[in-house]
Amino acid sequence: MTDKYVVFGNPVAHSKSPRIQMLFAQQTGQDMVYTHRLAPLDGFTPEVHALRAEGGRGANVTVPFKEEAYRLCTRLTPRAQVAEAVNTLVFNGDEILGDNTDGAGLLADIERDPGFTVTAKRVLLIGAGGASRGVIQPLLERQPACLVVANRTAEKAQALADTFGNAVSGCGFAELAGQHFDVIINATSTGLSNDELPLPPGLFAAGCLAYDMMYGKETPFLRQARAAGAKCMDGLGMLVEQAAESFALWRGVRPETDSVLATVRND
Ligand code: ATR
Repeated sequence: MTDKYVVFGNPVAHSKSPRIQMLFAQQTGQDMVYTHRLAPLDGFTPEVHALRAEGGRGANVTVPFKEEAYRLCTRLTPRAQVAEAVNTLVFNGDEILGDNTDGAGLLADIERDPGFTVTAKRVLLIGAGGASRGVIQPLLERQPACLVVANRTAEKAQALADTFGNAVSGCGFAELAGQHFDVIINATSTGLSNDELPLPPGLFAAGCLAYDMMYGKETPFLRQARAAGAKCMDGLGMLVEQAAESFALWRGVRPETDSVLATVRND
């Protein structure tokens, strides 16, 4: 029987995950089918159990269900525990294993160029919601020179930073004045609302890397960064890399990602 996987979200029809996962399956010769499934905002957990009852083998989880997915798992990987959010479910009999591959996906994409590493870099992470929390531990594992979390609501950044001890500092945007960073990552939802971030002038040093975790359009953040001379990346590569990490967990085979990224970039 063909193994079945889905991506749950709301909305989810726009998701590129089915396309990406089916390209991986083709490439590695895996007998599987992967589709998107809209879960009602108040009915995610029953949808997961329905998929299990149908013989589904696993799922990806996207907005807004990653925290609920975290709560319904019977076992969590260490990185899902730290993220307090789950984007990958694996069904093993009675067990529901939850993992979070977002952070690994981000790092794999940022370091896609083999000459580039986050190690010893000054890193700024903007935003203090779930998207930000999920990537802090993987960033710290690279041992950056510093990791600062900045947020519109400064207290949220401070509270998030505090959960990682002295390794991370949290602040508001105004406190960034006069500081420079080698890597600046936007983990806010401002790409959706099209709001410009009130970042102090001079934040983007020439040659710095600006990364927006959103994909599909040029966000105000990337426009600001480009105008300041930064190297810009959107989150499409992260999407492909987190998908590859989920695929490897489900199938025990690691797909090649460069060609898949090039394909979906041209879709
Ligand atoms: P996610 O799970 O995607 O991280 P979230 O938890 O709702 O979503 O967090 C959204 C993030 O985007 C927050 O850091 C939020 O800042 P606040 O904590 O101050 O609300 C940030 N954000 C959303 N709209 C913003 C805006 N117009 N300007 C600056 N930050 C914004």
